[in-house]
Amino acid sequence: MPDTAANTPGELQETFREIFGSRARLFRAPGRVNLIGEHTDYNDGFVMPAAINRSVWAAISPRRDSKLVVRSSSFPDTVEIDLEEKDPRPAHHWSDYVRGVAVMLAGAGHRRRGANLLIRGDVPIGAGLSSSAAVEVATALALLGNSGGTVDRVELAKLCRRAENEFVGARVGIMDQFISCFAQAGHALCLDCRSLEHRSLRLPPDVSLVICNTMVTHQLAGNEYNRRRAECEEGVRLLSRSLPGIRALRDVTPEQLRRHAAELPATILKRCRHVVLENARVRDAAVALERSDLTGFGRLLRESHQSLRDDYKVSCAELDLMVALAENQEGVYGARMTGGGFGGCTISLVKSDATPDFQRAVSAVYSAKTGLQPQIWVSSAAAGAGEAE
Ligand code: GLA
Repeated sequence: MPDTAANTPGELQETFREIFGSRARLFRAPGRVNLIGEHTDYNDGFVMPAAINRSVWAAISPRRDSKLVVRSSSFPDTVEIDLEEKDPRPAHHWSDYVRGVAVMLAGAGHRRRGANLLIRGDVPIGAGLSSSAAVEVATALALLGNSGGTVDRVELAKLCRRAENEFVGARVGIMDQFISCFAQAGHALCLDCRSLEHRSLRLPPDVSLVICNTMVTHQLAGNEYNRRRAECEEGVRLLSRSLPGIRALRDVTPEQLRRHAAELPATILKRCRHVVLENARVRDAAVALERSDLTGFGRLLRESHQSLRDDYKVSCAELDLMVALAENQEGVYGARMTGGGFGGCTISLVKSDATPDFQRAVSAVYSAKTGLQPQIWVSSAAAGAGEAE
């Protein structure tokens, strides 16, 4: 994993000066874990993510021309983007996230101004911790800062999501960009993905978020993500014959789904059941957290994982193993896969004083069983994006 010490503002300034010969303004946007509410955001449902202590930084200084010259510390090439370009197209390259954000800002009427831009981060790429949303949000803040523009946070999240949906071509929901913009230190965020109403929920101080990276990413993730979306849409189409008012699975109650189960093919029913019950779990989880009922909260995490594994079918052997190992440890309230699935990370809620033993034991058994060395770290719930001093 990239070294966090190499991402201090001072060090970033120094690298920026070596590459571009000037001082930069620095913007930071965090990655996230999702505590509960998986595959519900694009069904207009509820999610409960928290920002993690790993971020993407965007260092920026103005240029006199209309070019965006972009470097990333994760890739060797330098990319030049002409901000006056007539018909910008994705190049299927890491820089698409930057270009997509620039295109969306221009589309929303923001002034363009050339810049040198350095992107650097310690959110592991492809691990399901939203490194792409963090790149988008950090880039958008940097480009706005550079041209003297402002947008409110809801617009910022929407604009970044649009960059990913319409330019990069990934049909993701709003969760990742939203938490990166709205996170509060020490809190999870309960978000209604339809109305965008949200509230921060304090996490108890004696409990830790432990992130375990399985170190696998299965290729089918993107295709299967789109297939799940389509299956949910099909579920809504079929159910709306009997429930004419519904627009999304968000509008279907567990009781209604039970009543109309026979109207759905078996696979579609399973996908719908996951989403409908997961929405209910997020609301129950918010209540549990407000009552400091960590046992109840943990039970919901466990049920969420089982549902993602058996009904939504987005888990994989490595995620299931990691969750099973976590559940076996002392001081664990609950564990589940987090993010889109098919690899990436799990999240475990662990009593803070039990985390060293947890890390040692889970790491040893996981690597003995898989031959892979997992990355396991404790994260605080971090603050949302902003400019660094
Ligand atoms: C990915 C997407 C999110 C969300 C999750 C699943 O992380 O970017 O919008 O759909 O998968 O909950």
